[in-house]
Amino acid sequence: MISSFRKLLRTAPKAEPDVKSGRLPTHIAVIMDGNGRWAQRRGLPRIAGHRAGAKVVRDVVETAATLGIGYLTLYAFSSENWRRPKDEVSGLMRLFEEILRAELDELHRSNVKITVIGVLDEVSAGTRAQFEKAITQTAANTGLNLTIALNYSGRADILKAVNQVVEEAAASGQTVQFTEESFSLRLATTGTPDPELIIRTSGEMRLSNFLIWESAYAEFWVTDILWPDFKANDLRSAISAFQSRDRRFGGLTEEPSAR
Ligand code: FPP
Repeated sequence: MISSFRKLLRTAPKAEPDVKSGRLPTHIAVIMDGNGRWAQRRGLPRIAGHRAGAKVVRDVVETAATLGIGYLTLYAFSSENWRRPKDEVSGLMRLFEEILRAELDELHRSNVKITVIGVLDEVSAGTRAQFEKAITQTAANTGLNLTIALNYSGRADILKAVNQVVEEAAASGQTVQFTEESFSLRLATTGTPDPELIIRTSGEMRLSNFLIWESAYAEFWVTDILWPDFKANDLRSAISAFQSRDRRFGGLTEEPSAR
């Protein structure tokens, strides 16, 4: 009897993490880490890890859209990632282009709106053209807002905004005073609410120059799972954990209060 009960426990399907519909994070941002280690553990080239990671992107986008998440930002390539071996970088650029070409019509049909943050001008011509096409084609969509951080650096984005203002102030002879809101308008993420939940895979506990201004009050959820092994249920677990957090924004209530 006990042994058959144990057997039942072993074979019972895992319950889906409980996601409450009323308290979804408006914006989830993901640092997709661990592709290289995933490949290395299987004796495969690193690009095989990125390719496996791209399949997970598809599932995560689909799950986020189904759950009714408003905004999803994926850290695909940081401005520091150019320091990687040339063949990995060119392989990644080709992969972005290929995935986008293969998935664009389906994403469009699913009402997903694609945007990019980062310096697209420095990206290879074919990849850039494919992203520009995706942005244009999906511009009027009203479903999930999917932002790809490509050649992105949080510090560079802040510096760009500051330098623009310094130049404008010098040209007009006027001094400028920022508020948090007016400064946010200058960033690449303008129009997108700050991320409420940041997920990082592969166990690393850092932001790696990702949304450093925007993440001031984000909740973090870090898992040891490598990105290519990340499943829709892991996304649900992260959301469920978010829903149980006590968010007080430095105060005593759940609401970010005005000063
Ligand atoms: C980090 O893992 C991952 C990347 C730098 C690339 C992420 C790209 C994808 C998942 C491909 C598809 C993406 C889109 C948006 C179509 P790592 O290589 O740093 O892993 P490691 O720390 O184990 O070496």
